[in-house]
Amino acid sequence: MCGIVAYIGPREAYPVLMKGLHRLEYRGYDSAGICLLNGDIRVFKCKGKVSDLEAFVAGENISGNIGMAHTRWATHGEPNTINAHPHFSQNKTIALIHNGIIENYSVLRSELKNRGYTFTSETDTEVLVHLIEDIMTNEQVSVEEAVRIALNQVIGAYAIVILAKEFPNKIIAARKGSPMVIGIGKDEFFVASDATPLIEYTDNVVYLNDEEIAIIERDKELKIKTIRNQDQTPYIEKLVMSLNEIEKGGFDHFMLKEIYEQPRSIFDSMRGRLHLDQGTVTLGGISDYVQKILKAKRIIITACGTSWHAGLVGEYLIEDLARIPVEVEYSSEFRYRNPVLSEDDVVIAISQSGETADTLAAIDLAKSKGATVLGICNVVGSSIARATNAGVYTHAGPEIGVASTKAFTAQVAVLTLLGLLLAQKKGTLPASKFQKILVELDSIPSKVERILKLNEKIRDIATIYKDVKNSLYLGRGYNFPVALEGALKLKEISYIHAEGYPAAEMKHGPIALIDEFMPVVFIATRRGIYDKVITNIEEVKARKGKIIAIVTEGDESVKKLADHCIEIPDTEEMLIPLLATVPLQLLSYHIAVMRNCNVDQPRNLAKSVTVE
Ligand code: G6P
Repeated sequence: MCGIVAYIGPREAYPVLMKGLHRLEYRGYDSAGICLLNGDIRVFKCKGKVSDLEAFVAGENISGNIGMAHTRWATHGEPNTINAHPHFSQNKTIALIHNGIIENYSVLRSELKNRGYTFTSETDTEVLVHLIEDIMTNEQVSVEEAVRIALNQVIGAYAIVILAKEFPNKIIAARKGSPMVIGIGKDEFFVASDATPLIEYTDNVVYLNDEEIAIIERDKELKIKTIRNQDQTPYIEKLVMSLNEIEKGGFDHFMLKEIYEQPRSIFDSMRGRLHLDQGTVTLGGISDYVQKILKAKRIIITACGTSWHAGLVGEYLIEDLARIPVEVEYSSEFRYRNPVLSEDDVVIAISQSGETADTLAAIDLAKSKGATVLGICNVVGSSIARATNAGVYTHAGPEIGVASTKAFTAQVAVLTLLGLLLAQKKGTLPASKFQKILVELDSIPSKVERILKLNEKIRDIATIYKDVKNSLYLGRGYNFPVALEGALKLKEISYIHAEGYPAAEMKHGPIALIDEFMPVVFIATRRGIYDKVITNIEEVKARKGKIIAIVTEGDESVKKLADHCIEIPDTEEMLIPLLATVPLQLLSYHIAVMRNCNVDQPRNLAKSVTVE
């Protein structure tokens, strides 16, 4: 996920672009870059945040009325200056910025290399700009036609902006799968990933549709055509937004925004990996290690915090699907307890930030004992991504709220794919069952969308329980890690004491706490250990505890017992954590807001724990 912004008009482009980049920085801050067209075509870029770019260009000639800028969240290639956008074509007359992922970049890259193109970066993006130059040179076509031809060869997602030295009054922009809005002012145009960079200049906007190309020229009408060369009439809409509303993309907090991003982030984490039509799963990052995992005596998953909870779901998934023994270890314990490890073990480290010190130390320990270490990380080029032998990225996009939400579901999505991949290779699942799970997994993003529609109802429940002092979260099987994660979300952002427990273990202790003031959240979905959970609910009810239950749509039995039911769509048992976690995130969020807590930056916590 990256942020892009472009401008053409009578103003100086630089301040407009920089202000825009600051607003888009939530989309990523691995590196930033700018391109200005003023007779010559100049690019300035550097690793780091937008403020680093500002310091970098200080003293340079930055005048010009046409330009574009980019803030990067690295996906392909580590976050450094070379991989920063804009990228130049070989003859340095065309520059391009990109948000998205070009999935077939390696094929395109080898073809272009064979034709004499030299690549300077490790990004997927660079293939596009060389391809456009190649088409312009060989086919003698305009830049917009070259873009159109090039995009017909591209598989993946993109929002791109292109500037060409030969066309000093023209911006070409296109999108598929990644957002792009065009602002139309008086004698000026803006292009951006969201409306935040253009809100103070115009309220006339056109949202580009998938596979559309915009040809933007000063003193001319906006022209839009599809990549199949059909002219489109621009549909101009009025922007109804105020400045302070949009700073977090219209959400009050990053956490809420990130909760709402989950249909997309789960989808992105599975894109190019789940092949429904072929009935297969691929995980390119670990393809060389699949045999090693299949032969491993056991898998050890190590992580901290929310990532550890995802690891627990991973244990259930991999054992269930692929019948390989899995152990889950807190990195902080693992690193200090002299564990038995050998070359036959595969260790999987899970981390959103890729910087957690305990997890890094656990990796070092595992490597020193000869184990193979794989990573599941969200941040490209992070220390953990570099320290592991290989890995799989979750494509959740930057997570800014300290309490992890979309990173968790992305990790679980990747672990599900891993379980399925191993099961398929090992033949531990009947083909029909495998395909059924694949179909269900593919439908998870749309089911999460449905759950998000329950927001109002969940807020009403939060109103009732916002002042409690303690709470209990109970679940069994796949819903036990969900209970742990639900409790963690509540305690970290609302400061209410919350404990997650396996539902049946309640009678060995926590039941002593239950009275009419104790809310108990049950994850009581119909698939799995359902009847036994109903018995546990009865036990709480008998002691006058208040029951909030996450149930399957259409449930009747729990409804008779619970004070509140939140109904989620039915799915395969092993996929329930991807759904059941979402209402619990919303419940914690609303309670924390009602208690006036700093939701995005809870006290004493940090997003990335780089100390022991
Ligand atoms: C901190 C964060 C948590 C996160 C944990 C592990 O405690 O506040 O949200 O789950 O670190 O972080 P990691 O980046 O390794 O997933």
